[in-house]
Amino acid sequence: MTDSPLATATAQILRAEQQPGQKPVIKTFFDEATFTASHVVHDPLTKTAAIIDSVLDYEASSGRTSHATAEQIVAYVKAEGLSVAWQLETHAHADHLSAAPWLQEQVGGKLGIGAAITHVQEVFGKIFNAGTQFARDGSQFDHLFHDGETFKIGALEAIALHVPGHTPADMAFIIGDAAFIGDTLFMPDYGTARADFPGGDARMLYRSIHRLLKLPCATRLFLCHDYKAPGRDTFAWETTVGAERAHNIHVHEGVTEDSFVQMRTTRDATLSLPTLIMPSVQINIRGGHMPEPEDNGVSYIKIPINTL
Ligand SMILES: [Fe+2]
Repeated sequence: MTDSPLATATAQILRAEQQPGQKPVIKTFFDEATFTASHVVHDPLTKTAAIIDSVLDYEASSGRTSHATAEQIVAYVKAEGLSVAWQLETHAHADHLSAAPWLQEQVGGKLGIGAAITHVQEVFGKIFNAGTQFARDGSQFDHLFHDGETFKIGALEAIALHVPGHTPADMAFIIGDAAFIGDTLFMPDYGTARADFPGGDARMLYRSIHRLLKLPCATRLFLCHDYKAPGRDTFAWETTVGAERAHNIHVHEGVTEDSFVQMRTTRDATLSLPTLIMPSVQINIRGGHMPEPEDNGVSYIKIPINTL
């Protein structure tokens, strides 16, 4: 069966490799507190930009948010004279809060996420007993992307691919010749993302990863996280399809679906939940907005006891 979104993505990447104007400029901001790589990608011709997977600083002990990390992005956008068309989320993150609403106030841009966010909202809406005022239709976002949907960032061609597994709503955004693949693959020496959150599925993750690994070898991959593999002492967030195929410790060529599922499931059973999962999920399924304030004007984060 032909995978036409993948064929479209491949054709876009090959075109971009031939035309210097179709190569995006990418600047990454790495947040060491949450090990998150936020990317600002722009079209050099029109200076139109997208901000991918931004981070709102959050102090768990006090429940206070701040913007020092996101302010670096605003400063860069202003210094480069960029006009922000999109704030993109590769998925509803469980380990950091999104700064997208705050960034929208500062520099604009439509907030986009995968259409299956409605499924994630359903699952976590139940877990957090969110009540009927919490809409589970994705309406907190400006745009819901479907598999194979093409869009533009200035003159750059872009396409969204649905790559579920880590969560049901993960998307890869391919912009020119660069793919922003969220939490599917990590650096080759670190492996792959966990697949045990509610709605996650190791088998689905393997299939999504293999879809990405069919892209041209030279495709630049930009990751959402890095945790420094043992023996490596600097953070890294950029690799290629070819390097992942040859060297990824979990899914290099020759690793079968069943052996991956076995490895992933066994490993996931040993992992504790991310420190910020409670605030992250409740805020990120609301498009980065805080839960509706209570009658004293304060927003609260819930913690379900003996549930997750
Ligand atoms: Fe994630």
